[in-house]
Amino acid sequence: MKKKQLSFEYEVHDDINSLSSSDAQLVERARLGLANSYAPYSEFPVSCALELDNGEIVVGTNQENAAYPSGLCAERVAIFYAKSQFPQSSVLKMAIVTGHQELDVPVAPCGACRQVLLEYQVNQENPMFLLLTARKGTVYTLSDIRGLLPLHFSKEDLKKPL
Ligand code: THU
Repeated sequence: MKKKQLSFEYEVHDDINSLSSSDAQLVERARLGLANSYAPYSEFPVSCALELDNGEIVVGTNQENAAYPSGLCAERVAIFYAKSQFPQSSVLKMAIVTGHQELDVPVAPCGACRQVLLEYQVNQENPMFLLLTARKGTVYTLSDIRGLLPLHFSKEDLKKPL
């Protein structure tokens, strides 16, 4: 029997002031996007701004529905749109902003979004830089989505043995 351990690192910034100006700008774009969230049921707006390697910034927000499972998280709205419009471009950075007016701690992406983000990261072969925050306050930064989904399932697992 062997024991193994997986760990990941992230940075904690008190606010956007200790980020690079381009990272801070991406967070601001995501924060502005919160106004476009459609979340009448959860009242929990989420916005996600992506910076692509072609210079485009794509912002997506969570979109809910009276038939609850028909809604979609902000991260998947953003990345599915980006990959539909610019399939050859890779995602350099992703800022995810979430929460109620009072909330000032970051909330991490849900499991389904982690799975989707991870597949695109594997496809593009360079890590996606993540910034997680709320309307204000603390920002977590992660240099690789894989840290959020250890022992992940991927297309490699679908390969049949010869
Ligand atoms: N939500 C997101 O947009 N992203 C996440 O990673 C977690 C949850 C949305 C889905 C739903 O509209 C609301 O937040 C409450 O779960």
